[in-house]
Amino acid sequence: MAITTLPTKKDISIKEEIIDHFANLEIDVSWSFAECTRKETSYITHSYHRYPAKFIPQLARRLIEEYTEVGEIVVDPFMGCGTTIIESLMAERIGIGVDINPVAYLISKAKSTPIEPKKLEREFTLLTFDIKTNNITNIENIENERIDYWFPDREKKRKLSIILSRINQIEDENIRTFFLCGFSNILKNCSIWLMKSNKPTRDFKKEIPEPFLIFKRQIEMMLRKNREFYQQIPITVLENITDYVKLKCGDARNLPVKNNTVGLIVTSPPYVTSYEYADLHQLTILWFQYSHSLSEFRKKFIGTAHHREEHLEIGSEIGRECVKDLELKDKKKSREVAMYFGEMRQCFIEMFRKLKKYGKACIVIGDTSFKGVNVPNAEVFVEQMLNIGFDIYKIIKREIPSKILPQIRDSKTGRFTSSKNHNKILAYPHEYIIIMEKK
Ligand SMILES: C[S@@+](CC[C@H](N)C(=O)[O-])C[C@H]1O[C@@H](n2cnc3c(N)ncnc32)[C@H](O)[C@@H]1O
Repeated sequence: MAITTLPTKKDISIKEEIIDHFANLEIDVSWSFAECTRKETSYITHSYHRYPAKFIPQLARRLIEEYTEVGEIVVDPFMGCGTTIIESLMAERIGIGVDINPVAYLISKAKSTPIEPKKLEREFTLLTFDIKTNNITNIENIENERIDYWFPDREKKRKLSIILSRINQIEDENIRTFFLCGFSNILKNCSIWLMKSNKPTRDFKKEIPEPFLIFKRQIEMMLRKNREFYQQIPITVLENITDYVKLKCGDARNLPVKNNTVGLIVTSPPYVTSYEYADLHQLTILWFQYSHSLSEFRKKFIGTAHHREEHLEIGSEIGRECVKDLELKDKKKSREVAMYFGEMRQCFIEMFRKLKKYGKACIVIGDTSFKGVNVPNAEVFVEQMLNIGFDIYKIIKREIPSKILPQIRDSKTGRFTSSKNHNKILAYPHEYIIIMEKK
C-alpha cells in the first residue's frame, strides 16, 4: 500500500509525522529471508569474495521484480561487491553500479562477467602448470613496508608474487579480472590479519596456509560458480552482456547514466565510521598498488572518520537535532555525523536527477547510536528525500540477519564489541527499506 505525500495533517510538522510513522511500524517478516540457506544466499557468483555488509541477493531480487519490468535500468550507487547488479542481470534488467572502492569495482566486475567455462578452465590449467614448473618470467617483487607488515613470511610473500605476476600475464581482460578477484580473496588468509576481525589486527600466532594450495581451492570454487552463472543467466543477457552491465569506480554523486532514465535504485549506503572500507581492503590495495596513500584514499569514502572540515547542508530537522545532541557528548563524532548526512543528501539529489517519472529509490539502512545518542539514519534520509522532491511510497521494517551485520555495540564507547562485553547494547537489530518515488 502506498503512502501519499507527507504531511497529511496540517497541524503536524513533517518531522513529527515521520517520527510518528516510524514509531508505528511493525516488522514485516516476509523481508527477513530467514528461511534462505547459505547455499541459496551464495548461489552463482555471490560467494566469489568476502565483503562486509553485503545484501542478501533475495532481498535485492524481490525489489527488482516488484518495481521494474524486464529491460529497465536498475542502479546501485554504492554497489559494494555487486549484489544488486548480478540480481539485475539474472532478472533481465540493465545493471549500473558505482563504488568509490576499486576493490569493490574489481569484485563486482568479476562477479557480473559470465565467462565460457571451458575457456576459463583451460587458462587455469596453463596457469597451474606454469606455477608448478616454475615457468614464470618477470616476477614482480613489490617492495612495500606495509606488505611486509602483513606478510612477514618472505617465502610465502614470494609465492604470492609468483601467482600475481603470472595472472598479470593473462591477455584476456575478463579472465585476468576473474583471477585477480580470486587472488584478492586469499590475501586475508595468507597474511597475519586476525581472521575473525574486520578491523586491521595482527595475529602473530596465525598459521599461514600454503599460498598455491589456497589459491587453487579458491579458483576451483570460482570455476564451479562461474559455470552455474553461465548456465543460469538469461540467454539474451549472456549474448549481449556489455549492453546489460555498466560499472564504474567513482563517486555516488556522479552516476554514469542519463537523467530521467532509471527505473529503480536499490542500495545500502555506508554507515558513519562503522567500517573503514579503505583500511579493510588495504591488502588488495597494497598488492595491486591501487593507491599510494592510504590516508588520502580514506577521505573519498562517505562515512569515514578521516574527512576534511567542511560545512554541508543537512536538509533535515531530525538530522540537525541529532547532530546537536551528539555535540554535547562528542564534538568530533557530531562533525562526522553532520558530514555524513550532508554527503548522503548530495547522493539523494543525484538519485532524484537520474530516476524517471514514477521511478523508485530503495534505500536499505538501519539506525546507529554513539555515546548513548540515537542516530536515526532512516528518519533523516526520509526527511532529506522529501525535501528534495521525493514522495514516500512505502517504508518496510525488517529484521537483520545476524550473520551479515555486526549486532553489538559497547554502550559507553559506541564501538562494535564482542558478546562477552558487559556494556553491550544492540546495534541494529532491525533496519528499514525506505522506498521513495519520483512523481
Ligand atoms: C554497505 S556497502 C554496500 C554493500 C552492497 N550492498 C553489497 O551487497 O555488497 C557501502 C559501500 O559504499 C561505498 N562507498 C563509500 N563512499 C562512497 C562514495 N563516495 N561513492 C560511492 N561509493 C561509496 C563503500 O566502498 C561500500 O562498498
